[in-house]
Amino acid sequence: MKGIVFESDRLRVRMLNYSDIPTIIKWWNDGAVMKDMGFENGMGITESSLLSRFKKQLEADDTTILDSRMFIITDRNTGQEIGELQYGELDLQNKKCRIAVKIAEIDYQGKGLGEESLSLFIGYLAAELGLSKIEIDTIHDNLRAYNLYKKLGFLETKRVKDFWTDDQGHKHDIVFLEKVLDSE
Ligand SMILES: CC(C)(COP(=O)(O)OP(=O)(O)OC[C@H]1O[C@@H](n2cnc3c(N)ncnc32)[C@H](O)[C@@H]1OP(=O)(O)O)[C@@H](O)C(=O)NCCC(=O)NCCS
Repeated sequence: MKGIVFESDRLRVRMLNYSDIPTIIKWWNDGAVMKDMGFENGMGITESSLLSRFKKQLEADDTTILDSRMFIITDRNTGQEIGELQYGELDLQNKKCRIAVKIAEIDYQGKGLGEESLSLFIGYLAAELGLSKIEIDTIHDNLRAYNLYKKLGFLETKRVKDFWTDDQGHKHDIVFLEKVLDSE
């Protein structure tokens, strides 16, 4: 198994493995998991598209710095995969990236794990990549995500009307937020 990235009493976050691909397909194709992100019927993702999407990181050494990476959140006590963290758009020159979080196992939502994993992830990225700013976004009607980001100190920078059209043809406004990290 690829390496542990960080952990707390309740959760463990590790690098993505080939064996995670079926779990991600299950989550991303499940409308109940994906509806708050605008995919009421899931994303209809295939194994081959996921393998090509994550090819670079699945083949890379854990320590190689990549433009984007996906990490798996597990229940530290049982080992069950419960969600994912991602960073992308890494810009080392401007010391920033964009991140995303998903507690994909519905039984694990609303228990503080989204907040805990996101907060630890920000600390990890700041330390590992020397970042000074983290960007995040959500469709405006995803109030759980919006409230979580505000709670963790993200400030709204932009709200773009009808930015994205879902597979049902519904348009969604997107809210962009950012958090400037303390320099030590
Ligand atoms: C959004 C998400 C990451 C929140 O994680 P979570 O573990 O369910 O939430 P937490 O228990 O950590 O709650 C942290 C904060 O989020 C907000 N929040 C959580 N559930 C909420 C709800 N039902 N209504 C409103 N705000 C809510 C609150 O600010 C909460 O703080 P509080 O408990 O002090 O009020 C998680 O529900 C999820 O993954 N949902 C589906 C995927 C998704 O929407 N991802 C984000 C967009 S990519």
